[in-house]
Amino acid sequence: MLLEIENLKVRYGTIEALHGISFSVDKGEIVALLGANGAGKTTTLHSIMRLPPPEAPKVVEGDIRFRGQSILTTEPYDVVRKMNMNLVPEGRHIFGNLSVYENLWIATTARTDGQENIDKDFERVFSLFPRLAERKRQQSESLSGGEQQMLAVGRALMSKCDVILLDEPSMGLAPLLMYELFRTLKQLNEEGMTILVVEQNARVALQFAHRGYVLDTGEIVAEGPSATLMEDPEVKKAYLGG
Ligand SMILES: Nc1ncnc2c1ncn2[C@@H]1O[C@H](COP(=O)(O)OP(=O)(O)OP(=O)(O)O)[C@@H](O)[C@H]1O
Ligand SMILES: [Mg+2]
Repeated sequence: MLLEIENLKVRYGTIEALHGISFSVDKGEIVALLGANGAGKTTTLHSIMRLPPPEAPKVVEGDIRFRGQSILTTEPYDVVRKMNMNLVPEGRHIFGNLSVYENLWIATTARTDGQENIDKDFERVFSLFPRLAERKRQQSESLSGGEQQMLAVGRALMSKCDVILLDEPSMGLAPLLMYELFRTLKQLNEEGMTILVVEQNARVALQFAHRGYVLDTGEIVAEGPSATLMEDPEVKKAYLGG
């Protein structure tokens, strides 16, 4: 397994936010982590990225392993640089006062694999997201919400990641743009990228993911291949509108 979360218990102060969750993501998979507001989805992603509190809570039990090695003592920048994992955070967090090009460029500054590879990745991002290519010089805060979401994904790609964690990429996107974004993610996955996607929109996520887990107030309550989850009566009732 590429990424294994085992019996993970985490706390914000005295409040336990994850009560011992276990799940895994294999190389080349798209895995969806579903759940309602406050279920602990963002907490899970922040824990994997090894962000320090208050963003990520304190791990009190369990383990997070990458290629079989515990990463509990790994620094966040090493999660990005050495494990080539990256997070597209909730609410996007792009630099509004910088241009589209500058936002992408900033993501490459820690790369050591040479300008040629960086240039190739610029081309790739601009061909995946032609809207960004058309708006290269535009100040990012004037992009539409959907374009900002694409820029956030593009930025993760520019940092040269093999594993991408996305926190509610469909948030605020019109259906057409949402499907466009998920199709792009599928394409990236077919090129070899491993994807863990957090979503409240279970319908769209399960359409694209290979497998899924349902998180409910800090516990995994259902799991399985996407097709099976979509047919699960409980999942249908709670997350797919009947
Ligand atoms: N920094 C923090 N300090 C204290 N409690 C927190 C902190 N961040 C999150 N929590 C709590 O942990 C629980 C899980 O929150 P989390 O943000 O992981 O949920 P989520 O599934 O991402 O929800 P949403 O879909 O609304 O983004 C919630 O009860 C939340 O109030
Ligand atoms: Mg969240």
